[in-house]
Amino acid sequence: MIITKAHLLNFRNHSASAFEFAPAMNVFLGENGQGKTNILEALSFLCITKSFYASADSIVLQRDKNFFEVEGTIEVETGRESAVRVAYDERIKQKKIFINNGEVEKFSEVIGRFPVVILSPENNSITFGAPAERRKFIDLIISQSNRLYAEEMIEYKRILRQRNRILSESDTRLNERELESWNDMLVTFGARIIFKRTQFLREFSPYLMQMYSQLVSEKEIPKLLYAPSVSLEENIPPDEIEILLRKKLEKRRADELRLRTTIVGPHRDECIFSLNGMLLKNYASQGQHKTFLIALKAAEFFYLKERCEETPVFLLDDVFSELDEERSKKLLTLVETLGQTFITTTSENIFGRSPQWNNERKKFLIRSGSVISSIKAA
Ligand SMILES: Nc1ncnc2c1ncn2[C@@H]1O[C@H](COP(=O)(O)OP(=O)(O)O)[C@@H](O)[C@H]1O
Ligand SMILES: [Mg+2]
Repeated sequence: MIITKAHLLNFRNHSASAFEFAPAMNVFLGENGQGKTNILEALSFLCITKSFYASADSIVLQRDKNFFEVEGTIEVETGRESAVRVAYDERIKQKKIFINNGEVEKFSEVIGRFPVVILSPENNSITFGAPAERRKFIDLIISQSNRLYAEEMIEYKRILRQRNRILSESDTRLNERELESWNDMLVTFGARIIFKRTQFLREFSPYLMQMYSQLVSEKEIPKLLYAPSVSLEENIPPDEIEILLRKKLEKRRADELRLRTTIVGPHRDECIFSLNGMLLKNYASQGQHKTFLIALKAAEFFYLKERCEETPVFLLDDVFSELDEERSKKLLTLVETLGQTFITTTSENIFGRSPQWNNERKKFLIRSGSVISSIKAA
């Protein structure tokens, strides 16, 4: 897919910015704090209905404004064009999404239709941070490649909220029957999620190994190991996972009542990253962390490209500034093999002495939330 146009209205520091993008590379150049990342964030709204890092829509709303809009034209592989419009109104705290003027009823319908991969400094927490960060990473890939999973995740979160509410009110008198019915739902949806995550990690691993070996010359083997909240043997079907989950729920019942929260289920899963058998978290160098992350994201790109039958767009936020020269070069070589890319940077140096800007590779100069110029002018 290719995003051919975008229009931002009252979006962060962009009062009204319009873009016509190149099909290959799009570079947003500018000093710090000018609004480059904000453009990538707006593209994320077009593709996955939300920001890749802001926790709420109201955060991206321009100060003192009461609505924002992001509009874009997306050309998919079949050649069809879709006009996507995301509109948020602060007065009613509501976001609406329109595709070709038709309102989208369930946002999960959009996820995966316009696949996107984002590599940004926030992503460092995928290899450095808590298990939740890795779950989030995995869930977004599976959701983009499997609509049902996106819906099951939404449902699971709702079940979890309800069940936690019952447990937190349990000091007065535990409603056993009510809890029991939520247990049924928890194990049903929990098992489906665990099953799909297991399947996904098995499929995803070869992609990761391949991308990693392209980025490093040394023989380093990256591995992903799924550690779900119930221990599983290979190829165990969802109904058997359900039984295991139920047993574990019974076993941890006293703990749940004491802690007043749900402690069994896929929201407690861990995914362990390792390099040559050593835990990445404990032993890897900064450079290895960065390479691992880039390999994860490149693997995500090629995985989604095959699964979605649609080439994802790739957003790279300030990635090059953090890399040494060799890693920078390898990443740029890799970027050339992807589809349409959007890159923010404070310096053109990464593109060599005299970068060629044309209709395939466009440069946009960004200052104070505006596009000062594009293509050839510097
Ligand atoms: N909701 C908002 N309303 C208005 N301006 C905002 C909002 N959120 C962030 N900004 C401004 O956006 C700018 C940062 O934009 P950003 O895209 O992160 O810059 P960079 O070019 O460094 O990537 C800052 O000037 C910040 O004050
Ligand atoms: Mg930035």
